[in-house]
Amino acid sequence: MRVRMTYPRLTITVLLLTWIISLSYLTSSEVLDTPEGCNTNLDLLFIVDSSESVLDHDPVGEEGLSWSCIKNFTKGLVARLPVGSNTRVAAIRFGSRAEVVFHLNHHTSNLGAVNSLMSMRHMGGNTNTAAAFRQARLRVFNGDNGARASARNVVVFIGDGISNKEVQHTEQEIRFIKDPSRSEAEVFAVGISKEIMDSELKKMSSFPAEKHFLHAPHLDYLPQIQDLLLYRICQIPDPVIPTKEPDCRFPECKICNDVECFVCLDGKYLLNGKCEDCIANCQLCSDSINCERCIRGWYWEPETGKCEECQLIADLALVIDNSGSIRDKNPEDKSYDNYHLLKQFVAKLLDRVDIGVNATRVGAIKFSSMSQLVFQLDAYDQRDVIKQAILNMGYSGGHTNISGALRMMREQLFARQSGDRPDVGNVGLVITDGESTVDKNLTDVEADLAKRSGITLFVVGVTDEINEEELKSMASKPVDDHYFNSTDIRTLDELLHSLTIQVCAQKSLMVP
Ligand SMILES: *[C@@H]1O[C@H](CO)[C@@H](O)[C@H](O)[C@H]1NC(C)=O
Ligand SMILES: *[C@@H]1O[C@H](CO)[C@@H](O)[C@H](O)[C@H]1NC(C)=O
Ligand SMILES: *[C@@H]1O[C@H](CO)[C@@H](O)[C@H](O)[C@H]1NC(C)=O
Ligand SMILES: *[C@@H]1O[C@H](CO)[C@@H](O)[C@H](O)[C@H]1NC(C)=O
Ligand SMILES: *[C@@H]1O[C@H](CO)[C@@H](O)[C@H](O)[C@H]1NC(C)=O
Repeated sequence: MRVRMTYPRLTITVLLLTWIISLSYLTSSEVLDTPEGCNTNLDLLFIVDSSESVLDHDPVGEEGLSWSCIKNFTKGLVARLPVGSNTRVAAIRFGSRAEVVFHLNHHTSNLGAVNSLMSMRHMGGNTNTAAAFRQARLRVFNGDNGARASARNVVVFIGDGISNKEVQHTEQEIRFIKDPSRSEAEVFAVGISKEIMDSELKKMSSFPAEKHFLHAPHLDYLPQIQDLLLYRICQIPDPVIPTKEPDCRFPECKICNDVECFVCLDGKYLLNGKCEDCIANCQLCSDSINCERCIRGWYWEPETGKCEECQLIADLALVIDNSGSIRDKNPEDKSYDNYHLLKQFVAKLLDRVDIGVNATRVGAIKFSSMSQLVFQLDAYDQRDVIKQAILNMGYSGGHTNISGALRMMREQLFARQSGDRPDVGNVGLVITDGESTVDKNLTDVEADLAKRSGITLFVVGVTDEINEEELKSMASKPVDDHYFNSTDIRTLDELLHSLTIQVCAQKSLMVP
């Protein structure tokens, strides 16, 4: 009799306590601080990995810590957004299946949203990323559940990155969520594992991955990347995070626990929990032989296996052939696309040059029968964006009007209103697979005008149908340093090393 009486009372006390605790998920002081710039219309969806594997990251003896840290992380973000005025928040959790925890029109305050997030239970099961994104597209980002056409759709995905259910659909669902004709969401991915199994997360995140993928190799790291993510969601420049001396007792380690290092300082790589030196002038490496990113002004040269210096500071015009002959020479079995290979070659060259408003500026022209200015010298200042703009460049087909392209380069691209700097040298790089087929007698004239106005002309000829005489006379002197050719577009990359050396030697062109 007595026992029966105590049990309900205990339950009521527990419920009461839970209720009191849940009220204190968010204190008023935590709500106030919305960064300027976060007041734009935003429909924000959290997709939280709630599968069994998430718990693998629990430290020994602290079961469930990973799950609470993930929830606490979402809390920290939501607490600083104007939920109820400009921002709407929704959440999906997923394991073997996915489930909407609350919709965009459910909460009108931070308090409500944070409470729902913090009371979210762990599900367990497999990692069905495809199901989560499908729910996002079909149930969250549609008008019926509070999604606004006027708002920017943003997804923050938090997980450890390895789908193991319905994997054949993962890629498609991720594509759909970002697709401008579907959900058009910007996807941020937060990886919470110390393994470098982050490729699925990197692929899932919007372009550029450097901005949209955040790695938390250890739970302690989550609060540290919270501000960074918040600022990026709001599209405001990264906050200045004070660089403090590493707390780790391991020298040269940025993030560690008591027994091992997880992330080393720049210029070091992790080997068995300790930090080792990268090769000279390398900023980011994962072993002692290769470099993933050299320090500024240097580039990775596979041929020498070193970081090499590139001193070029110039206004660089890429003048790229778009004539019909390029795809006409594609193989019948469609095993590769000449135009794509050509653009990739240009993108690789851009990987080697120090790009920036005050370093090298890049503009592009594509030409066939007519020329088109693809982007001006001051359109973009980030390497990834410029590379993407090149890779996205459409194909025209038509004749080869080199003289027209040279004129456009000189008159329209190397002009103040296109971002040309009068005190910085001008370099033009013409890539073509043939010879002039229209206005042929003007090619020499325009090349001369360009060179006489101080433009250094590099010419790259591809395939065996080029007119070497014409291309060589276009190039600046000495011809051997400015003219390059490859008979096969598939082996174009063989020119990269020597072309880079010559292009990077243009430092002397700086106008004092
Ligand atoms: C929760 O997040 C805050 C930052 O918003 C952090 O300071 C705190 O340490 C976190 N708490 C836990 C238990 O992880
Ligand atoms: C570029 O140089 C100008 C003038 O020296 C300076 O004001 C500006 O901050 C620099 N920009 C960058 C991104 O370095
Ligand atoms: C060659 O290109 C230039 C620049 O786009 C253009 O003005 C000219 O008309 C073109 N010539 C022919 C024959 O199409
Ligand atoms: C180029 O050739 C055309 C006709 O083929 C002619 O009308 C024109 O005057 C020539 N231009 C030059 C600069 O020689
Ligand atoms: C291009 O380069 C190769 C190798 O340097 C050379 O043999 C060839 O004659 C050049 N010209 C053409 C039109 O392919």
